Amino acid sequence: MVDDIQPDAAAELVCTWCSAPLGSPDLARCPSCGAILHGDLAEPLPGVTAVDAAALVRGMIAAVKIPITAKMRLGWDDDNLTAPDLARVLEDAGVAAIFVHGRTRAQGFSGTVNLAGIRAVVAAVKSIPVIGNGDVTTPEAAKHMLEETGCAGVSIGRGAFYDPWIFRRTNHLLRTGELLPEPDFAERLRVLQPKVAAA
Ligand SMILES: Cc1cc2nc3c(=O)[nH]c(=O)nc-3n(C[C@H](O)[C@H](O)[C@H](O)COP(=O)(O)O)c2cc1C
Repeated sequence: MVDDIQPDAAAELVCTWCSAPLGSPDLARCPSCGAILHGDLAEPLPGVTAVDAAALVRGMIAAVKIPITAKMRLGWDDDNLTAPDLARVLEDAGVAAIFVHGRTRAQGFSGTVNLAGIRAVVAAVKSIPVIGNGDVTTPEAAKHMLEETGCAGVSIGRGAFYDPWIFRRTNHLLRTGELLPEPDFAERLRVLQPKVAAA
């Protein structure tokens, strides 16, 4: 992505907090004032709004030739579910799609994915695809998320660690309604052997 940034446009990226030039959209913090651009925060930053995020994203969209998508959690915690508002504002800013992990920042990876929260993000945007994420560890879980939330697709993280065949099996389930069996020992060996040999 960095290769696609036009140098002049990249130089125009500024911190939405203190207006210092950033030069690179990959920075997690502004080197001048320390404002969070992306990354982990111990506490919500009062005053950092979706509008600030949109200004940053607009700068990125202007600076590159490829589509910009945004990934978010549902919000800081159950009392601050910011994702629907953020998704709406980022859609207006021009992002091509929204990815949402159906947990809050406070949850970390605890509890289970909140499908109603993802559904609220789907309802908030006008036309861009929303991709649901979180706890999709089986083809059935993918189907359930699609049906329960109306999301346009799902993204699979840890489920692919557990089961690298999950994409093929999910695709098959969604297209045919048939749940393929998990790969047998011979198939697992066929895939693993070259990787073990190369290690
Ligand atoms: C090892 C690991 C690395 C991750 N790295 C990122 C990352 O760089 N950016 C990001 O947005 N999410 C990252 N995530 C979060 C996942 O994209 C995803 O939102 C989260 O794991 C929930 O989805 P899952 O239940 O399918 O794993 C990471 C998760 C794991 C387990």
